[in-house]
Formats: sequence, C-alpha cells, structure tokens
Amino acid sequence: MAYIIEMLEIDKYFPGIHANDHVTLQVEKGSIHALLGENGAGKSTLMSILFGLYQAEGGIIKVRGNEVRITDPNVANHLGIGMVHQHFKLVHNFTVTENIILGLEPKKGLVIDRKKAAAKVEEISRLYGLNVDPQARIEDVSVGMQQRVEILKMLYRDAEILIFDEPTAVLTPQEIRELMGIMKRLVAEGKTVILITHKLKEIKEVADTCTVLRRGRLIGTVPVADTSEERMAEMMVGREVNFHIAKGPAKPGEVALRIEGLNVRNPKGLLGVKDVSLEVRAGEILGLCGIDGNGQTELIKAITGLAPIESGRILLQGQDIAGLKVKERLDLGLGHIPEDRHRHGLILDFRLDENLVIHNYQRHPYARAGILDRRAIGANAARLIEEFDVRCGQGGATSTRDMSGGNQQKAIVAREIDRSPAALVIAQPTRGLDVGAIEYIHKRIVAERDKGKAILLVSLELDEILDISDRIAVIYGGRIVGLLDAAKADENELGLLMSGSKGRVA
Ligand SMILES: Nc1ncnc2c1ncn2[C@@H]1O[C@H](COP(=O)(O)OP(=O)(O)OP(=O)(O)O)[C@@H](O)[C@H]1O
Ligand SMILES: [Mg+2]
Repeated sequence: MAYIIEMLEIDKYFPGIHANDHVTLQVEKGSIHALLGENGAGKSTLMSILFGLYQAEGGIIKVRGNEVRITDPNVANHLGIGMVHQHFKLVHNFTVTENIILGLEPKKGLVIDRKKAAAKVEEISRLYGLNVDPQARIEDVSVGMQQRVEILKMLYRDAEILIFDEPTAVLTPQEIRELMGIMKRLVAEGKTVILITHKLKEIKEVADTCTVLRRGRLIGTVPVADTSEERMAEMMVGREVNFHIAKGPAKPGEVALRIEGLNVRNPKGLLGVKDVSLEVRAGEILGLCGIDGNGQTELIKAITGLAPIESGRILLQGQDIAGLKVKERLDLGLGHIPEDRHRHGLILDFRLDENLVIHNYQRHPYARAGILDRRAIGANAARLIEEFDVRCGQGGATSTRDMSGGNQQKAIVAREIDRSPAALVIAQPTRGLDVGAIEYIHKRIVAERDKGKAILLVSLELDEILDISDRIAVIYGGRIVGLLDAAKADENELGLLMSGSKGRVA
C-alpha cells in the first residue's frame, strides 16, 4: 500500500516531558486517518512537526516515499501539506478572497488578478461543496464558515494532505455534519486527511484508520471499521471508560440562583436575551440547551457580570447581584467556567500555579500581609494537578501557554469546581477534553450537586445535557421555550424545541 506520509520513530522533547517518544505514523493516500489520544498525549505536537512548526529531535519523515526535512511551514506547503489550526488565523475585515490570496501576493511588477482569484475560489468552493461566498467579509460569517475559508485556503494552494486539529470542537452539530461531508468529498477527489478529534463518533463516521497515542507513545494503529468506540477509548486511556455516569436522584433545596424577567442586549445592540426567568435550586443541575447563538452567551455573561443587563433581576441566594462587578459576584459565591478559555478563563502568560489561585491569591492562605506565599500556591497546584490529572511538564511552574488545549481546560475546571461556590455557571465544560477526562469532570459536577450546590450547565452537546442534568431548559431566539424533567426528556423533543418548531413557554 502506498503511504503518502510516513513519520518514523519521531522523538520530541519539551522541558520536563517526552512529548513524542519514537512515534510512527503511516498514512495511506486517499484515506482519512484519525489521530486519537488523551489530552497531552502529543497529537498536536506530532502534527506541528509534520507542518514544520516544530523540529523533531529524532526520526525520519517521508512524503510520497521520499525523505524530507520540513524546516518551516513554507516547506510543508511546497510538499502539499496544509493545516487548519483550532484557532483560525483570518483577517476579520478582509473578504474571503482577500484572505485566501493573502501571502500569495505577486512578485515585483505583477498585479494580482482579483477577478481570477475570486473565480478560482468559487470553483474550488463548488467542487468540494464548501458553499463559500468569495466576497463575504470574515467578520460577517459564522465560525463554521471561517473554517471552510481555512480549508479553501489550503486547497487554493494545492494542498494534497490536509491536517485538521480538533476541527469540530467549536462547531455546532449541523456544522459538524457538513464538515464530515466535506472531508468525504476531499478524499473522493484524491486528497488525504489527518484528523485529530476526541469524538469517537466522528472517527467511526468518517475515518478509515485510527492511530492511538498515550503519554507520547504509539499504542497502535487500527482499522476503524473493525474497532468499537469502547475499544478505541480503552486503547487511549488504558482502562475501560464509562460513557454514562451513574447518579442518584437530585435532592433540590432552596433556590440559589434566580433570574427574573431578564433582558440583555447582544454586541449588535439587539435583545439577545428576552424576558428570561429561571431558577436553579441548591442540589440540582439545570441544563440549558439550544443551538449556538440563541442567547446562551449573553445570558451567561449577564449572570457572571461580563455584560450589562437591560432590565430584570439576578438573585444569588436572595441578593440582587445584577449591578455588581465580576469579582464581587465571585466573592458572594458564584463560580464560572467560561466558554472562551483564552479570553476569560486563563492568563496565558502566567504559570499554571498562579492561574489556579487567580481569584483568591490576595487572601489567606496564599498571601500574608500582601506577600504571596509561594509554598501554599505551589501546594494547591500540586493537589489540583493530581486530583484532576492535569498533564504538564513542570508541575505548577509550567507556563500555561505551553500546555495542551485540553489540559488548559482541565485547569480552569479544576480551579472553579475546587472553590465549590454556592452557584456554579458552567459553559461547555468538556470542550476539547478526552473521554476519560470527560468522565471525571462529569462525576465531579454531580458530586458538587450532591454537596448541595446549584449548577447551571450550558452546553452545545446534547448528550452531555441529557447525561448529567436534572432539569432541562431550552432556549430559542433568546427566550426559554421549554422546561423539562431530564429523566423524561428525549432527544427528538429537545431537537424540535431547539429549532423553534415547537414552542412551550415555561
Ligand atoms: N511549546 C511547548 N512548550 C513546552 N511544552 C509543550 C509545548 N507544546 C506542547 N507541550 C507539552 O507537550 C505535551 C503534548 O502536548 P500536545 O499539545 O501535543 O498534546 P495533545 O495530544 O494535542 O493534547 P490535547 O488533546 O489536550 O490538545 C503536553 O504535555 C504539553 O504540555
Ligand atoms: Mg492538541
């Protein structure tokens, strides 16, 4: 069988960690090859080596049978290798076509032919069913569309091998289905796809082959058709994984978080949240589900103090907190696992141990008379790293920026759950996490509930909502259109409510 890519015995070290330990990856031309592994297993590192962003300390790379040295991404491009990163790199006030030809500016004397470029963009778009409007401005298009522009950019440069690093983490279920279709069309046209994902369902749906890494080492490469999701999970984690956690019935107490007649404007100045009333009791998990962009983000921001409200009340244990600052709300017993971990969750320039005490470092036991107690801060980090299995090269001293995406997420979740606030607002808590980590985080969320905490869970993952919520609220067009007992809810009914085809105002 012809391998288009061979990475043989690749070795890569970072301070304190052997990120790739003699890893071998062989990819057949015209296939979709999945790369699976726990958070921090070394997947992004391996792909960054293939794309020329990192240099390996050992091993050989062959492209189409020839040994190559990929010293930077330009070399990768010349070899026909393209990569879509998780955080897109598009210029927002440029059009689709301008973004695609950016960096391909003609040499001296030549003028770039925009018309021709736009025509080529349109042609590629049609061939692969990308549905991209060449004239649209990036700032006006959805995240899913931005991703398709990134794909187009690779294809415009004649990439034959396309690397996707967790492409579905930021997409809605509908966009995920579209992307799966695009990938199938890419291989039908002779391209080769390498796909990093934590979602076993996606691997089952599109991939031909799956390579599993664990702690920097190759565990094995298997044909997807003959391998169950359970088996793949076991290969990556090294033990059996429970996809559904066991939980007892909720014992709801007093209302801990009450929202009354809340109206919130979105960044466009329109009402994103319309007259929403909700209550979350101590000892229960209220799941809020809806299609992305139906007011969830505005609602969370209003509750946690990241955005002002238009009118209404937000009561935390009876006290109206709507006018208070973020910090004041946290001090009164609110917790928040934010949707955007880079913007609101972590300070990437800080060390991990500092990020883990970001809300309370000025206080006992982390400071005395204004002086930080480094020992106490370090001990707290060591405990959380152990409890939540945060994988990092240098313990609490690890630079947060250098941590893998999933481990950054685990750090935020660890910090917020460990504070054990009376009311915890959780948005997309398991985005980017491996199945083993998801199992653990779900258990800890339920444990908080059982300690009598009130939990508001906002998630785009319907499985997650159905799995751990006690009650489910559905948001559509900024309004709550349904309120159901989770034990009796089914996916179809939720789907109808979420799409607005069945309104049942609570
Ligand atoms: N630039 C860097 N400097 C130092 N350490 C790094 C750097 N990049 C990655 N690492 C470390 O190497 C290990 C592997 O990271 P990598 O990003 O490859 O993991 P991953 O498998 O992609 O995980 P995830 O599923 O969480 O994205 C991690 O422990 C990470 O902390
Ligand atoms: Mg990664």
